[in-house]
Amino acid sequence: MSPSTRPKNDTFLRALLREPVEYTPVWLMRQAGRYLPEYNETRRRAGNFLNLCKNPQLACEVTLQPLARFELDAAILFSDILTVPDAMGLGLYFAEGEGPKFERPLREEWAIRDLTAPDPNVHLRYVMDAVAEIRRALGGSVPLIGFSGSPWTLACYMVEGGSGSATDYRTVKTMLYDRPDLMHHILDVTATAVTDYLNAQIESGAQAVMIFDSWGGALSHAAYREFSLAYMQRIVAGLKREHGGERVPCIVFTKGGGQWLEAIADIGCDAVGLDWTTDLGEARRRVGGRVALQGNLDPMALFASPEKVAAEARRVLDSFGTDAGGGNSSGGHVFNLGHGISQFTPPENVKVLVDTVHSHSRRGSAR
Ligand code: CP3
Repeated sequence: MSPSTRPKNDTFLRALLREPVEYTPVWLMRQAGRYLPEYNETRRRAGNFLNLCKNPQLACEVTLQPLARFELDAAILFSDILTVPDAMGLGLYFAEGEGPKFERPLREEWAIRDLTAPDPNVHLRYVMDAVAEIRRALGGSVPLIGFSGSPWTLACYMVEGGSGSATDYRTVKTMLYDRPDLMHHILDVTATAVTDYLNAQIESGAQAVMIFDSWGGALSHAAYREFSLAYMQRIVAGLKREHGGERVPCIVFTKGGGQWLEAIADIGCDAVGLDWTTDLGEARRRVGGRVALQGNLDPMALFASPEKVAAEARRVLDSFGTDAGGGNSSGGHVFNLGHGISQFTPPENVKVLVDTVHSHSRRGSAR
């Protein structure tokens, strides 16, 4: 099969393009990860998380693990958003139990002026090799999603030197308010890097792409448009939207961005991801068919009893509306969590979730 033909199960791609579907497709952010014992086993063999990301065979192995357990409608490349700043020379490492860190955070003006966009086919070759390997291993079963962080979210890590949530993003926001020129320079170079990176993933076989703007919701109303959305708009405009004769849909997800939904829907993406704080039905009315919507179960709902998990899944489907799946309609809903799955999630509940999304949406109406 040529790497560009539509997969056997193309429900996810059709929902993103608001074409008719028989049921609501589902995948989960961080679906390959520490809640699966087989992931922890492969990670042990790799030595650590970064080695796992940098080894295309092992990255392929863990990408496929959740698909062997659950009837997911898409695979997502196993990697991390921070491989891009790593390729820019910042020296990514993961301190055990502390999350990601950079050896050389971006603080000095000279270092910021020296920043350049890496060639993804050279400095991120291992990601492109993983994409190609995963496409081969999937054998045309379900589509493969590629991804990147947004320039703002990457800049948060690059300037803070790690996760900024513990310090209220003080360092990166000080730069934003004091030296907007430097902040814009970082975002400008990073937007070029992300555009090149996503286009290289598409050329290597990614059939849809997603931009994770995990920290966009930490910005003020005015700053969001200037420092996050504007750069995502530039990336979307620069993406190869077609590969091998197939449309490659693009999803934009700003965590905490529900209030900016209309503005996000206007940047030219095919779908907008939502966290659990926004009502899907209302969101659907607000975008008025301009884009598909992805989301938005609270990941913590997966800790309830299986019956409650199923009830919450039905509630999310019903909030989107009665023509989400079934009846050959074209609702444009992709079911997902509102953020990444927790490492403590019981895998049995994930099966209940996935099966409920399929069975409830197949009924002809999502009730
Ligand atoms: O969705 C998937 O299954 C694909 C894999 C994926 C990972 N990270 C694997 C990962 C994706 C899409 C990401 C994106 C990512 N990485 C984001 C954006 C999405 C979000 O969650 O907001 C961010 C902010 C990061 C940065 C990052 N990577 C952090 C903050 C951490 C540590 C947090 C934690 O959960 O421990 C990581 C590590 C990471 N990335 C893990 C995985 C499976 C856990 C690492 C491990 O195995 O020890």
